[in-house]
Amino acid sequence: MCIALFCMKGTNTVKVYKPCPCPNHVYSHRHYEEDNEWGCGSWFEYTLVVVLASVLLLGSLGLTLFWVIQYRGGFAWREDPKRQFNLHPVLMVAGFITFSGFSILLYRICRCCRRIYVKLLHTVFHALAIPCVALGFLAVLDSHNLSQPPIPNFYSLHSWIGLVTMGLFAIQFVVGFFSFLILLCCEGATAGFRAALVPIHASFGLTTFVLAIAAAVSGLTEKALFTLGDAYSEWREEGIIINALGISFIALAILVSFAVRSNTLKSDVKVAVADHM
Ligand code: HEM
Repeated sequence: MCIALFCMKGTNTVKVYKPCPCPNHVYSHRHYEEDNEWGCGSWFEYTLVVVLASVLLLGSLGLTLFWVIQYRGGFAWREDPKRQFNLHPVLMVAGFITFSGFSILLYRICRCCRRIYVKLLHTVFHALAIPCVALGFLAVLDSHNLSQPPIPNFYSLHSWIGLVTMGLFAIQFVVGFFSFLILLCCEGATAGFRAALVPIHASFGLTTFVLAIAAAVSGLTEKALFTLGDAYSEWREEGIIINALGISFIALAILVSFAVRSNTLKSDVKVAVADHM
């Protein structure tokens, strides 16, 4: 399957995203062939990063659920705005961290699948995040507006970071979805355009994930100060759980960024160049 245009000059093959500036260039296509010639070190790095990140992605969602059920009274809908709020952290973590994190990691986990299936799964995971984020946002809006007296909206740094994250996520999803659709419609004719989009989509995707972590950490701090007040400094059990959650989010930001940037973990491909000369 071809994804990117390459410019061949002599024995060098250079990936290009737009018309190549060099003279006598010849475009070619890259074909996917998994490079499975990995050494022990690479497999160790792969297993460590993938297993640790997966454990943290699921574990942090589990710990958020545990915290909210055990210490914050569980869930409710509009009949109890205080407990309705509890849906906010759980759904935001599920959507923005667990689903989005796995969606990004898929590109590193699935080394042997065809790229089209990985893209499809990537889209499905992000699509699953949408209802979580929408309901999580509605839960916090409701819990503010239905409180007696109502709590003001969008005054905190956390809410601003959250809004930026949601905006970026929406743009990323729309752009990614349409580039995926045009891939299905006219693969060959749009290869250059889609290849140009890849590094932009990847950078903004990682940025959105890291911003979601910043939102989650600032939200946790805010909630700890609102609910525990001075007791936060007394090493209460709940405070320790909140801190552990925050640290697991930070660890995820480090691991997922590492996985995305690491040259070892990138699905290396052997480039089979069709000679057009
Ligand atoms: C992970 C992604 C998250 C995003 C994108 C996000 C986004 C938002 C937004 C936009 C608001 C403003 C709602 C309003 O003012 O009506 C808000 C409020 C709030 N969020 Fe989050 N949130 C996230 C995670 C969390 C987490 C994990 C907690 C932990 C408890 C949390 C705690 C709060 C609190 C206490 C408020 C109400 C006070 C305020 O407006 O700052 N959030 N969130």
